[in-house]
Amino acid sequence: MANLIMLNIDGQDVEVEPGTYIIEAARKLGIEIPTFCYDQRLKSVGACRMCLVEVEKSPKLVASCATPVAPGMVVKTNSEKVIKARKSVLEFLLVNHPLDCPTCDKGGECTLQNLTFQYGPTVSRLSEDKFRFQDDPNQKFDDIKLGPEIWMNKNRCIICYKCVRIARDLAGGADLGIFQRGAFAKVDIPKEIKYANEFSGNTVENCPVGALMSDSFRYKIRSWLLKGTDSVCWLCPDGCNITIEHNQGRIYRHQSRRNDDVDMGFICDKGRYGFDITSHPERITVPHAVNGDNLEKVSYDEALAMMVHRFTEVQGETSALLLDTSLTNENAFSAADYFQTKLPGSSIAITSEIELNDIMSYGHLGLSVSLSELENADLVIILGCDLAVEHPIIGLRIKKLINKGVPVYFISPRQLYLGRFNVYNIRANYGREFRVIEDIISLRNGNDDIKINKDIKEQLELNITSAKNIHMIAGGDLLANPNRNKYLQSLFELGKSLRAKLSILTTETNYIGIGLVGRTNATFEEIIEKIEKGEIKTLFVAGGDPVNVYPDRNRITEAFKKLDYMIYWGAFLNHTARLATLVMPSVLPTEDNGSFINVERRLQFLDKSYSTPKEITSLIKLFTDIKIELGGGLYYSASDVFPQMARVIPEFNGLRYKVSEGHIFPSVELEASDNLKALDVKPPPDYPYVLMFAKNVYYGASGMTSKSNTLRKLTPSQKLLINPHDARKEGVMNDSKIRLSTDSAAGEITAIVSEDINQGELLLSGYSDENPPNKFMVGFNKPVYAKIEKV
Ligand code: SF4
Ligand code: SF4
Ligand code: FES
Repeated sequence: MANLIMLNIDGQDVEVEPGTYIIEAARKLGIEIPTFCYDQRLKSVGACRMCLVEVEKSPKLVASCATPVAPGMVVKTNSEKVIKARKSVLEFLLVNHPLDCPTCDKGGECTLQNLTFQYGPTVSRLSEDKFRFQDDPNQKFDDIKLGPEIWMNKNRCIICYKCVRIARDLAGGADLGIFQRGAFAKVDIPKEIKYANEFSGNTVENCPVGALMSDSFRYKIRSWLLKGTDSVCWLCPDGCNITIEHNQGRIYRHQSRRNDDVDMGFICDKGRYGFDITSHPERITVPHAVNGDNLEKVSYDEALAMMVHRFTEVQGETSALLLDTSLTNENAFSAADYFQTKLPGSSIAITSEIELNDIMSYGHLGLSVSLSELENADLVIILGCDLAVEHPIIGLRIKKLINKGVPVYFISPRQLYLGRFNVYNIRANYGREFRVIEDIISLRNGNDDIKINKDIKEQLELNITSAKNIHMIAGGDLLANPNRNKYLQSLFELGKSLRAKLSILTTETNYIGIGLVGRTNATFEEIIEKIEKGEIKTLFVAGGDPVNVYPDRNRITEAFKKLDYMIYWGAFLNHTARLATLVMPSVLPTEDNGSFINVERRLQFLDKSYSTPKEITSLIKLFTDIKIELGGGLYYSASDVFPQMARVIPEFNGLRYKVSEGHIFPSVELEASDNLKALDVKPPPDYPYVLMFAKNVYYGASGMTSKSNTLRKLTPSQKLLINPHDARKEGVMNDSKIRLSTDSAAGEITAIVSEDINQGELLLSGYSDENPPNKFMVGFNKPVYAKIEKV
């Protein structure tokens, strides 16, 4: 550690690292200096001058957020001169600032309002009219829309550059900027651009005034009427900490609840704006039971009686439970506990888009280091993982590394979003990506007769030799790959030779948690097979939408139709619920207590934001009610279930509800399996293309994000990417409709001609009700071959 620097602030001595800004040194002493533009997470710009302090021997006041400490410095943060300067800064800001507080969204939580109360002038010395921005002379209202979700009121802006820095550093875009100078300076975007990116809402949350607004919150409620509940986002496994802000059983917004170990106080727009899933008009609030061809409403007591009757009739061997990965640990445990103890011999599996095999168990999945430790990597290799979409927060950490100049390699058959930054892209053919890994292993063994581009190869050799902390990250494309096992096998080998840390990441929220507590004894695939054979006749589907998730839509639909009885517990009458005998309305994670395990294997707790009607239950409550009917029932809440879980599940031994918040479960070292044979991914003449699939950032929770009106608005439409060479061959124009067919399904989709994919490969990107991706799929890790025709 470098020698510490001693300085004196307001009469107290403090020692800090060289390079620390005065403002941080003061915070160490508990002295809070007022700011507008400073944010420890963003590069200092010293724009607002609100943080001016007096430094002995300095002729002028200095900006404490941009002035590093020096040995022996004597600082005054509260002198007469400083207070006068603060007053002056506020008076200047208020010269043109509109008196909007009674209607402005930020009223009650506005830094300008608060600091004006604390230091500002009580009266204005100006009698002139305030300057008002008016882009269009006919404009009556000052708010303009910057993009589908973000509004701007330029008159309220105090030019602190926070939004500009957030847009640049988080989203990686240069679309927001400050134009003009002095009193005419304004935040704006080029006219042809709509401001939208996966982190856009962070600009609104961090704007110190009400200049930026979210469409979903704008002018809906005053901030002081909101009640905040601590929770964790349930729409991806990164596990951002959020505050649910609600009033009378309605959620108005999700704000970040800063946890530097996890999210650094930034959340993605999916987690921020997906809150309206809870209030979607199609949400079911009462149970439904099948009557003829229809599902009809029944009372909770009737539904409970039907379930109890069924459970007393069935045999364990003929029944099964499917656990969705957005369940809390406690809900999954309660359902699994019932099946295991009351229905011995029953099958329990996870509903997931990937299937595990003997190469992996839950111990292998997730980051092998913590999110913050990831930032110590000095070389990163990312394989088959669209980080910006699958793990926005890991993507942020990788962006920080890229900005620091750390070499980052992407191995993928398609151009990924983060691959557009200052990184190395190694384009592989789909299903044959493992050959690139084998080439790198050959290179390590001194054989440089390999196919990787010469420049990249030289850099790679150089970087690998000098790196001490290599991290390899594999994701969704790899796990769904037809040659997944071969790919993983070569990865383990490379990992060993490089002494690299290897992380295998799933995209599903609580996959690791459910794997630990769900006591699964079967795979999703095995359950489908048993249903097809007539061995399983009663199925309980705990959340999610398996029909939308299983990679062969026709097959799972037909299998579910064969069941004698299916109980679906969920929030909507989705594709799976419509095949059920009985549908029980579920709470959503924001309405529930419990815990999740995130991508870095961290245990985090959620609090219930408000109580739901009796009919909308957690699984804990539902199975307790069933047990009570059968003469015994113990638990009602997650805090009751947790101690039981801690007794039964070895990994949870010794953990306590809430007390163990932040516990990180250990990961298990990966071991290479025996030499595996690679599958030849080669399209037949009738279907000459290999079809790949990609999600967009707003897809989550088995497609439940489509029930968010805001996310629907932000989600790009579904498209099929085709390489320009293939487009010419097929006579397909950019943005034209084409017919995509496999030997079992077909649909019309808009084609986008793009170099982002290889010749001979097609990429179906996004989701639509007409063409759900799994309609074209043929099973876990099976290649899909397709053809296209002009329409
Ligand atoms: S819009 Fe808000 S965050 Fe952006 S510069 Fe203006 S005051 Fe700062
Ligand atoms: S979806 Fe993922 S990255 Fe986005 S807020 Fe939720 S947990 Fe964080
Ligand atoms: S907070 Fe220091 S100049 Fe703005």
